[in-house]
Amino acid sequence: MTTELQEEIIKLKEEKNAIILAHNYQPKEIQEIADFLGDSLELCIKAKEIEDKDVIVFCGVDFMAETAYMLNPEKKVLIPDIAAECPMAHMLTGEQVRAAKEKYPDAAVCLYVNSLGEAKAESDILCTSGNVLKVVESIEEDTILFGPDTNLGKFVEPHTDKKIIPIPGDGHCYVHKLFHIEDIEDARAKHPNAEIIIHPESNKEVQDLADYVLSTGGMLSHIKNSDKKEFVIGTEVDLITRLKAEIPDKTYYPLLEGAICGTMKLHTLEKLRDCLVNEEPVVTVPQDIAEKSINAVERMLEASK
Ligand code: 13P
Ligand code: SF4
Repeated sequence: MTTELQEEIIKLKEEKNAIILAHNYQPKEIQEIADFLGDSLELCIKAKEIEDKDVIVFCGVDFMAETAYMLNPEKKVLIPDIAAECPMAHMLTGEQVRAAKEKYPDAAVCLYVNSLGEAKAESDILCTSGNVLKVVESIEEDTILFGPDTNLGKFVEPHTDKKIIPIPGDGHCYVHKLFHIEDIEDARAKHPNAEIIIHPESNKEVQDLADYVLSTGGMLSHIKNSDKKEFVIGTEVDLITRLKAEIPDKTYYPLLEGAICGTMKLHTLEKLRDCLVNEEPVVTVPQDIAEKSINAVERMLEASK
């Protein structure tokens, strides 16, 4: 049942001709009223497709809302809390990418979509955890400068002949870094019938012990199509909110209860309502950065088909 505040947001959304896009890590009350939920790749695809709305309210972190703006610059993109930044994206600057390109002039630059605009502007192609293998295979060059997520780079390595050079070399997600080998061992002991699925932002030694390594959208479709009944979920805990809502006949255990992305949780219903009322905070990307980045975004979407 929707609450009064949720009803108010639904009405405002109609008045403003807005659509609410939300990442799979959003809290339950926001997931419940989102028009579209997805992983980073699904959200990019959706943002590009939107034609009949004037406003996109993006409940996710900064790089996601910025990518939505680049893909559909005619729309007003709002974010309920402008402080919702992905700390990993802030681990790689445009300057660091330029320095790596000077050092390896023959390499292609493939950046995780969790990157700042200034870094994206220096890249040849972007990727998400949902399309990284296809993207890497679409690249002609034999050497790839890859960042900022070192673990996603390590996930790719065994699947390709290409040389992956991490930039800056220590980029990581503090949430997925929380998972350790002992957590997998404990989960196997406690839930012997469960499949263990982990996100590729996790440490490689943890990835190696899981049954599957998948993006959040990949986890959802894998579970939908699986005959198994129990799953240990190695990613941010609110993916389980979506799994329970959409696949309620299965059982989910978080690999770690404390795997919470603090900035994803900055968005609240109150802030969502206020941003629709005031039509701010607005997300934009400086034109020069958007112009330099859009090719890399479009190339990614083409490669993931
Ligand atoms: P997904 O694209 O798998 O949803 O991952 C986004 C993200 O930020 C994971 O931490
Ligand atoms: Fe960034 Fe990690 Fe949060 Fe994803 S979970 S938005 S990578 S900090």
